[in-house]
Amino acid sequence: MGESLLIVAYLVASVLFILSLRGLSSQATATRGNAYGILGMSAAVLATAWMASSAGFVVLAVVMGAGAAVGALMASRVAMTSMPELVAMLHSFVGLAAVLVGLASYVGETDHEGAARSILLVEIFIDVFIGALTFTGSLVAFGKLRGLIGGRALLLPGRHALNLVLVLVALGMLVPYLAAAGTAGLWPLLVATGIAGLLGVHLVMAIGGADMPVVVSMLNSYSGWTAAAAGFMLGNDLLIITGALVGSSGAILSIIMCRAMNRSILSVMLGGFGQTSGGGGTRAARSDAPTETREVSVQETASRLLASRRVVIVPGYGMAVARAQHAIHEITELLRQRGVEVVFAIHPVAGRLPGHMNVLLAEAAVPYDIVFEMDEVQDQFRSTDVSLVVGANDIVNPAAETDPESPIWGMPVIHVWEAKETIICKRSKASGYAGIDNPLFYHERTAMLFGDAKEVMDAVVAELRRGTG
Ligand code: TAP
Repeated sequence: MGESLLIVAYLVASVLFILSLRGLSSQATATRGNAYGILGMSAAVLATAWMASSAGFVVLAVVMGAGAAVGALMASRVAMTSMPELVAMLHSFVGLAAVLVGLASYVGETDHEGAARSILLVEIFIDVFIGALTFTGSLVAFGKLRGLIGGRALLLPGRHALNLVLVLVALGMLVPYLAAAGTAGLWPLLVATGIAGLLGVHLVMAIGGADMPVVVSMLNSYSGWTAAAAGFMLGNDLLIITGALVGSSGAILSIIMCRAMNRSILSVMLGGFGQTSGGGGTRAARSDAPTETREVSVQETASRLLASRRVVIVPGYGMAVARAQHAIHEITELLRQRGVEVVFAIHPVAGRLPGHMNVLLAEAAVPYDIVFEMDEVQDQFRSTDVSLVVGANDIVNPAAETDPESPIWGMPVIHVWEAKETIICKRSKASGYAGIDNPLFYHERTAMLFGDAKEVMDAVVAELRRGTG
């Protein structure tokens, strides 16, 4: 009876996880998607705990209570812009858990014989190997994102050969591991675990800080595959399904991010394969590059916005830092009340994590139907009066299309400069994430609106109120 209930609970949880992923694919349904995920996880955890013996239940309740308290505290304190760090840290826990469960399963294994034992041992090996790689790789990613480790890529000579040798030696450990009786294969398993840990450090150290969020997404995928391997090892169907969902969705997200940043997914997976320098480095402006910018005041900005028929707002990382989204929403509403068409153009890697801008705009209650992906509005800038860029830089840098030497060469960027006028709100002429100069600041149709995005946007709101009141 208990077993059948568990199967039903796992089935319900699996369906809820799939519905959750489906819900998370659109802003309008994301809250519902989250709710499905919470429900699914609650069903899975409760059903598993129910099946535990009464002694196990107490241990589980204490451990889960402590874990939930720490998790809730961390999640409530984390700033949105530090989310990738938190996610990297959480992935390291998944990796470590997989290693510990794998080693414990090996040491406690007495039930299987012959081919069944060999299959189980291989499952344990895979679980521990990917788990160790995910654990150390995620710790390095966390260190890079936090600034505890330098952002530059560590490109050792012959590093790909070194990686290959490490993988081959680890695979070689399979021979004594599988041949050993009882738990005598623990040492080759531990050697392979150590090598996987080393590989995790080396693979992620070889990737520049600029690509770190893609790495985090890749590690998310790896943590999913680790969980799936643990599912096979423990004979737990829900872990297999959940692991496969996390593994494949993480991989798809990594591919989308790589495309948006014009990076090769293979390069990220193989630790900077084909890369000659670390991403995220700074590059000095060319000596013949223009240095004069045209400035615009808050009052002028408000009157140009009011005089427009169509305005496209392009938010970026600076909007998130300044928390200017509520002021931008107010500007949007005031302009719409005056008959100005306002739409948002969102770059896939604007900000610091996927969907960063969408989440902030949704939080500020900006209507979903005026928030567009960049591809949907890219050809509409010629009929746009004002492009208002708020705290964005790399994602509107024309050098990506004009300068083959640029580190962001080939990255798709939003064509704000095609509008009749571009107004850029940021604090200075400083570079963005890629550390490069932006020729857009010096463009003849560009005007700079210097200042903190929230302060300036609040001032524009006040000015618009005066103008519309
Ligand atoms: P960035 O290129 O990083 O530019 C942000 C700009 O915001 C800065 O130049 C900064 O200029 C300005 N800023 C900072 N604080 C501000 C404030 N309080 N008020 C006003 N402006 C402020 O951002 P982006 O255009 O959104 O591009 C994202 C970058 O991150 C891309 O290079 C992308 O590849 C990278 N990236 C994104 C992701 C994801 S998934 N989103 C992942 C990895 C990497 P000032 O200092 O002059 O104010």
